[in-house]
Amino acid sequence: MKPGLGIRDSGLAKAQGASEDPASALASPGSPVPDPEAVVAAYLHKHETKGLLRFITCGSVDDGKSTLIGRLLYESRALFDDQLAALESDSRRHGTQGGNIDYALLLDGLSAEREQGITIDVAYRFFSTDKRKFIVADCPGHEQYTRNMATGASTADVAVVLVDARKGLLPQTRRHSYIASLLGIRHVLLAVNKMDLVDYDRTVFDTIEASYRELAAQLGIERVHAAPLSALQGDNLLSRSERTPWYGGPSVLEYLETVDVSRGQGDIGFRMPVQWVNRPNQDFRGLAGTVASGEVRPGDEIVALPSGRRSHVARIVTADADLEVAREGQAITLTLRDELDISRGDVIAEARRPAQVSDQFAAHVLWMGEQPLLPGRPYWLKIGTRTVSASITEIKHKTDVNTQEPLAAKHLELNEVGYCNLYLDQPVAFEAYADNRTLGGFILIDRQTNATVAAGTLQFALRRAGNIHWQHLDVDKAARARIKGQQPRVLWFTGLSGSGKSTIANLVDKRLHAMGYHTFILDGDNVRHGLNKDLGFTDEDRVENIRRVAEVARLMSDAGLIVLVSFISPFRAERRMARELFAPGEFVEVYIDTPLAVAEKRDVKGLYAKARAGQLRNFTGIDSPYEVPEAAELQLDTVADSADRLAQQVIDFLIDR
Ligand code: ADX
Repeated sequence: MKPGLGIRDSGLAKAQGASEDPASALASPGSPVPDPEAVVAAYLHKHETKGLLRFITCGSVDDGKSTLIGRLLYESRALFDDQLAALESDSRRHGTQGGNIDYALLLDGLSAEREQGITIDVAYRFFSTDKRKFIVADCPGHEQYTRNMATGASTADVAVVLVDARKGLLPQTRRHSYIASLLGIRHVLLAVNKMDLVDYDRTVFDTIEASYRELAAQLGIERVHAAPLSALQGDNLLSRSERTPWYGGPSVLEYLETVDVSRGQGDIGFRMPVQWVNRPNQDFRGLAGTVASGEVRPGDEIVALPSGRRSHVARIVTADADLEVAREGQAITLTLRDELDISRGDVIAEARRPAQVSDQFAAHVLWMGEQPLLPGRPYWLKIGTRTVSASITEIKHKTDVNTQEPLAAKHLELNEVGYCNLYLDQPVAFEAYADNRTLGGFILIDRQTNATVAAGTLQFALRRAGNIHWQHLDVDKAARARIKGQQPRVLWFTGLSGSGKSTIANLVDKRLHAMGYHTFILDGDNVRHGLNKDLGFTDEDRVENIRRVAEVARLMSDAGLIVLVSFISPFRAERRMARELFAPGEFVEVYIDTPLAVAEKRDVKGLYAKARAGQLRNFTGIDSPYEVPEAAELQLDTVADSADRLAQQVIDFLIDR
């Protein structure tokens, strides 16, 4: 399979209710849908010896995109007879083409889409000719489906950009081309469709082609071929049309059969992300994976990344027989001469030309999550076969997908593209996306929901991993705690404004202090006067607020202190991030459970009244969310109990531990 962002294996389809099911193109209506993986495997096996071209079709609802693909499928006879029968009866029923076959119906698989007359979600279709086999990602054109298009584009080599000859380039032509170029597509077939409606006029075609070439140059799309087309009439679709004698180029199908999409990825040397370590018995230890670039032979010296350990290839094992050489795209198992400590997610690279290793990057991020991207929030990042924790440290700018204009941004919304600094909690082997999609493409996964929330492409490393080292300190945390005669702890008080966090934290602090413990309180209101005085109350500022105070709490616990943190800290993701900075048992989450109505009634600072009056925006509980803790160590009900008794409960908990 072609490298890509791996979005398809990530649960995105489920999360979005997308119909990526490749089997839907092949299953007859009403019959049980076969396992998609099995269908893909069977299809690929059947055509194993032929080259594979993956392409994506872009265009808007009316450009004739579905007709184009439907016709390619139909004419290449990839359709099963029963599907054809269904199509003919559907065409009669929907009657959009006056009794003729409506090829677009082949693609608009979901009945809901047919009624709306638009195609949503990515549908993968398969067909083949004598020369090649094809996988088409048919992507919806609307801006709200940018993420779907990106999903399809991430594995495609060619984009077929449809333009209506009567309308010329539209804003979506620019958007689609931008997304295609962002996701590394280098070849565009500009299909100027509906030429029949402009009397096959050459000047119409030439004008559109010229303006598209200008656009492609701006976007850095290397190769453009323009073809005049009538998908409906079949002109220049399978063979050249007599109605465009002035056009000397190939038909759409001829182009797809012959376009050379080799990327020259061999230039960066051999790379293979380790999918799994195969160890059936003591004598065999194989590293299984798919070659991402270059080639490998027995005897080659390799380096395992990021560790940097070296060895030589002993054997290249496959299901059939050992290989003398393996190339990009092949699934293999390597055995090495030396026993190296290698695990899933490592990258095996040519020793002479190893991949780069870093933990900080400049990257493009296309946001696919329903909730916005917030800088500072940790997400899972999957690159190649490795998954690490990562956060966006800065959004340099976002890019208007329609105009490519850079805009200032504090967060990214669904379908927005940002140019960002990315920080990983451990170094990974990588290549720039332009050089290799497998080792330069990544996805971000929400840690709470496991949904894929972004697709991204690495541009370059911001620094080499290893330039900043941990400085060894002779007096360590344990020594500092020992001299104080205590165990460092972080008591993390969370709850609504006015819930009683500070009151209870203050009482706990007073008692611990009286008992001779070394403590310190970090209070939201106070820290916001100093360290965090640059932060307000937007979601992104609250994330940064908590990130900073969690780091400060960590430093204080390294100093051996018992730290009491009293911040609303409304989001689960950041409380979890804070927790993960500490050893198990060290972090104690204390949920100050006061219903909104009660906190509002108390309104000690008069802020609820202001918020209700619209004088304070983003107020927690009013127009900004509070996510109730799911597994706090302590839950203190301030309605049922006095602050005194609740403070004692915290002390008792600490002493019990
Ligand atoms: S947090 O959400 O980022 O954790 P933090 O605990 O630092 O908030 O600050 C909350 C305090 O700021 C509240 O107790 C209140 O006194 C004050 N405040 C001012 N504006 C707001 C607001 N919009 N939302 C919540 N608290 C606010």
